Amino acid sequence: MGDKVIAIDGPAASGKSTVAELIADKLSVPYINTGNMYRAVTLFALDSGVDLKNNCSDAAFDELLQKLQLDYKRNASGIYEIELNGEFPGNGIRSPEVASYVSPVAALPVVRAWLSQKQRDFASLGMIVMEGRDIGTVIFPESKFKFFLTATPEARARRRLGQDGENFDGATLESVAAAIAERDRIDSTREVAPLKPAGDAEIVDTTDMTIDEVVDYITGRILNNDSSRNDLPGAVC
Ligand code: CDP
Repeated sequence: MGDKVIAIDGPAASGKSTVAELIADKLSVPYINTGNMYRAVTLFALDSGVDLKNNCSDAAFDELLQKLQLDYKRNASGIYEIELNGEFPGNGIRSPEVASYVSPVAALPVVRAWLSQKQRDFASLGMIVMEGRDIGTVIFPESKFKFFLTATPEARARRRLGQDGENFDGATLESVAAAIAERDRIDSTREVAPLKPAGDAEIVDTTDMTIDEVVDYITGRILNNDSSRNDLPGAVC
């Protein structure tokens, strides 16, 4: 079933979320942002008083996860949004504090096992766009549509600096670039499901592309390659 998942992976601030959401919209399929799931777990841990600076361990999360109910539900506009113990956490998951702890949390095997199972369950929705770090490599390796988005570190830092509410006060291009580089380092060197392109993923360098160009390019690749889905909007066959 997972062969119908459109997997969009890539490093921090590579533009995945923006384009993945627009691609899903264009194809009229659900969009699932798995980064938000790791962020929600991190937010819950911080709100529960876990000292993530000194005690970011499987042991700290074993019990905590039993108290966490994480779902993806349609919000009032019909968009799938993450729900944390019955409530939409909104922008809380995008705070710079959550961003600074999410990569160590996402490296924990207990957390990955817990979230991976939930992510695989989305295959029951049929064709979806799922965005993250390991969708093409680990969650849905059978996917027929795998894209790995990249951009230069400078372009990514510029994009993140332009995102309201996601940076510490006084952030500069240098400090944002350093924070992104640190997350990339942790994400790509962890033992479980490290960030890397799947062998059969198409790598898309978005440095000099506009959002619309990336969306049109990827949507075109999907429509041209999926002759079985002539019900998709814009399909030519
Ligand atoms: O939006 P941004 O590019 O900053 O990152 P995100 O997609 O929200 O992901 C936040 C963090 O969650 C990443 O840096 C990874 O540590 C982790 N993550 C992961 O390990 N596996 C995924 N499938 C998605 C996110």
